[in-house]
Amino acid sequence: MSDIVMVTGTGRSYALGYNLVLRYLEAGDTVIATIRKPSPDMDALTEKYGDRLIVATMDLLDTASITAAAEAVSGRVDHIDILINNAVGVAPDVDKGFFDANLDHIPRTLDLISVGTLRVIKAFYPLLVRSAGTALIMNISSEAGSIEKCYRTTGMDYGMGKAALNMATMYLYNTFKDEKKVNIFAVHPGWIRTNGKDDNPAPLSSYEAAGILKDLFAERREDFTGHRFITNEGKDYPF
Ligand SMILES: NC(=O)c1ccc[n+]([C@@H]2O[C@H](COP(=O)([O-])OP(=O)(O)OC[C@H]3O[C@@H](n4cnc5c(N)ncnc54)[C@H](OP(=O)(O)O)[C@@H]3O)[C@@H](O)[C@H]2O)c1
Repeated sequence: MSDIVMVTGTGRSYALGYNLVLRYLEAGDTVIATIRKPSPDMDALTEKYGDRLIVATMDLLDTASITAAAEAVSGRVDHIDILINNAVGVAPDVDKGFFDANLDHIPRTLDLISVGTLRVIKAFYPLLVRSAGTALIMNISSEAGSIEKCYRTTGMDYGMGKAALNMATMYLYNTFKDEKKVNIFAVHPGWIRTNGKDDNPAPLSSYEAAGILKDLFAERREDFTGHRFITNEGKDYPF
């Protein structure tokens, strides 16, 4: 049976969000793809897949834009089965360490990665609970968000944002778990060539990673037991 799947942050053909959209479209599902600015890559997909691709514009830092997108999407679909929170952004000096980085950039990254994801879930929750089965929220996190495994000294805004996203995932798991209508995980998606550059040493292309994740999400959709932070191989990862 086909699903209605929503993915945030999908405007770049070489990155993960677009390739998740592509994988679900290729499988016959209907996809809501969110962008924050016009995307020629998404326009080309719309031409190919027609009504099965719904493109919505929203900025995760702007609650009103998310509410408006949810209203527009509600006019096109009556439910959502899978929500993949993929959008991300980092500080311009993400490669700098504590003494050199401008700490005033950190709140924006935290807002985008963690609070932005909560805004999206809250606005689209009424559509998720109308899924005929168990709806699934997959928050694309990162091993960089693990406090226990942290080894880095740069990218503090990103690591803090993903750690906060992991905590948000647990809060929502606790909120949803008794009704079992909506399931939720944080997932490290693997090391991926999401910048599309050939000299990127990451082992997975965005298209390969998206295929692995799609299969994993189908497997874990109704799994309300066990650890909430997992890898793309389905293994538990320490928070
Ligand atoms: N690459 C890896 O090895 C790796 C490892 C671990 C985790 N991850 C995670 O995997 C996910 C995908 O990574 P990626 O490199 O493919 O991501 P990306 O291309 O850097 O970002 C995804 C999208 O997020 C959008 N975005 C940025 N700020 C936004 C905002 N304020 N509101 C709405 N959308 C916004 C961007 O839109 P624009 O196109 O308009 O800028 C972009 O298209 C991320 O969550 C990342 O943290 C990746």
